[in-house]
Parts: sequence; C-alpha cells; structure tokens
Amino acid sequence: MNDENQKPARRVRYKGTHPKSFKEKYKELQPEQYAEDVAKVMQQGRTPAGMHRPICVNEIMDFLQIVPGQIGMDATLGYGGHSLEMLKRLVPGGRLYATDVDPFELPRTRERLASFGFGPDVLVIKAMNFSAIDQIAAEAGPLSFVLADLGVSSMQIDNPDRGFSFKVEGPLDLRLNPNSGKSAADLLKTISRFDLEDLFIVNADEPYYEPITHAILSKIKKGVEIATTTQLKLTIEEALANIPMENPKEEIKKSCQRCFQALRIEVNNEFGVLDEFLEKLPDALAPGGRVAILSFHSGEDRRVKKSFKSFFREGIYSDVAPDPIRPTAEECHTNPRASSAKLRWAIKA
Ligand SMILES: C[S@@+](CC[C@H](N)C(=O)[O-])C[C@H]1O[C@@H](n2cnc3c(N)ncnc32)[C@H](O)[C@@H]1O
Repeated sequence: MNDENQKPARRVRYKGTHPKSFKEKYKELQPEQYAEDVAKVMQQGRTPAGMHRPICVNEIMDFLQIVPGQIGMDATLGYGGHSLEMLKRLVPGGRLYATDVDPFELPRTRERLASFGFGPDVLVIKAMNFSAIDQIAAEAGPLSFVLADLGVSSMQIDNPDRGFSFKVEGPLDLRLNPNSGKSAADLLKTISRFDLEDLFIVNADEPYYEPITHAILSKIKKGVEIATTTQLKLTIEEALANIPMENPKEEIKKSCQRCFQALRIEVNNEFGVLDEFLEKLPDALAPGGRVAILSFHSGEDRRVKKSFKSFFREGIYSDVAPDPIRPTAEECHTNPRASSAKLRWAIKA
C-alpha cells in the first residue's frame, strides 16, 4: 500500500483532562508539532515524555571553554542536549565524537541533531560503550574536551517498555542496550543470596538488603516469577511491611528506588565501565584538554573523585575540581531530576 492510501494513526484517547500514561502523551512525544504544549509541561517543572533536559549546561560550557576547530567527545549522547551546545561552539572546523549504547534513542538523536544542521561532517556518532574511549582517541586524535553525563536519560526512565522505573508497569529489564547482556529479571533467576545482598549494599547502600533479598529469593525458589517492575516493587513492599519505620510510605519508596538503581548498575556493569573510562581518559586527552563528569549517586561520584585526585597527585592532571559543583536551586526547581547531580572536572597537564 502506498503512503497516500494509509489511514493516519488513530489518536490515543485518554480519560480525564490530562494524559497519564507514556503512550497517551502523544503531544509531548512530538515536540516539533506541539511546541506550546511541551513548553507548558516544562514550565510546570516536568520533563516532557520522550525528552531529556540537559543538566548544568552553563556550568559545563563555562568550564569546557570550547572554541571553533576543537575536537572533543560527548561520551553519553542521550537526547543530545549537551552535544548541541558543544557543536554550536566548535564550528567551524571542529568535530564532535559522541557515544551511546542505547540502540533505540541513538538514531532519533542523530536525526534531531541533523535537523539543527549538525550532520556527519561535524558529528560522528558511534553506538559503543564509552569505556572504549581509547578507540575514539585513536580515530579522532587527542581530544580537547570530554563530557560524560552518567546514568540514564529521561526517555529511558519514562518509557515503561524499558523497565527502569518502579512507578510504571513494564518488563523488569533495566538494560541501556536491551540487545546485549542479561535483563534484571533473568539476573534474579540465578543470583545467589550473597551476591544479591552484596549488590544492594555496594551499588545502593540499601539498609534493608537482608529482608528484601530474602523476599525475592524465596519467591524465585517457589517458582513465583519476578519478571515485571510491579512484581519487584510489590515484593519489596511485602518484605518491608512489618518493619517499624517512622514514615513507611516514604522509606519503602526510597528502598524501591535504591534496589532498582542497584540492579541497573549491575546489569549494565556501570561501575566496571566507568572505572575503565576513567583509567583511559588521561591518554585520550590532549595537553590542556578538559574533562567534565556529571554523576548522580555516591558510587559514581566517589570513583570520579578518586581517579581525578590520584592522577592529579601523579602530575597527570594539572588541576581538578576542589569540590563538586551542584546545579543551582533554580535549575533543581525547574528540573527536579537535576537535584542529585554533582559535576567534577579535571585538566590534563
Ligand atoms: C543522562 S543521559 C545523557 C543525556 C545527555 N547529556 C543529553 O543532554 O541528552 C545518559 C546517556 O548515557 C548513555 N550511557 C550510559 N552509560 C553509557 C556507557 N557506558 N557508554 C555509552 N553510553 C552510555 C545512556 O544510554 C544515556 O543515553
């Protein structure tokens, strides 16, 4: 059938005055067509569905001091918000290498940035892990600047099919690249008690790691599936139901957040690839090259701080951030997802 004969897709109907589920938010998912509606959502301090708002843009750009002609890397392309700002500054003559492992969002971002006039002549996008930064430097030459904005994008968190959030029903997947590795649901089927407890402690400092692990593994042993986000959330709630707490609703919510984060870190080997990236970083940078890293929890920030300080002591970095930079109160107000961000930087000697 040719395009002219195809019926237009039926508009999603929703109850009440506001769309609630991800699929109902068809206006937010088409920002080019519904710019005014999208602007309204942002004014309310919410991130429109299918979009990611870049964090600490001014602070990062002030530090990176990008000038035309430079070659740099955005290690975590995401929605391309930071990339766009970097591209504007490095033309004419410069080039940005950008990596991401997400096979669904990457082509969309490529298209979006091309629509701003940044095609393959200035923007080289690679579907690869940033831990291979040495391969990027081998192709691009010494890098004048590098940015890594760690973790997950809002598009990934908000899309129930990706299984990143305990707030919406979806498969318990949690992989940034669902075409590679094991989903969180599959991990839970085979993991030992010791390893699961260790994962909750090391990856997320979960204080209730014992009852939660017990509840999960007891179900799995009985053949009860934990294959969806809601099934895991309910299991955590059941595990904590009889534990005295001052504010049970809030504390259980925090445990859900931490346990999902811990599993996400595990299935994506987030600490392993971050360590590899930090280790290879100095060799990828040109003398005087600048790196900025945004992290969102203590496990990440500790690694960045330790690596920067240790290379500084060895004289490999000439300067490092004395303290982490935090987003302004205004940014946290307009974009609550910025609240936990910490920015650290280093300059290659
Ligand atoms: C917080 S978002 C980045 C948002 C981006 N700065 C923007 O302005 O839209 C993090 C992105 O990094 C990607 N990512 C996370 N770990 C990665 C890794 N080890 N290698 C490559 N990409 C990674 C995720 O898939 C996600 O798209």
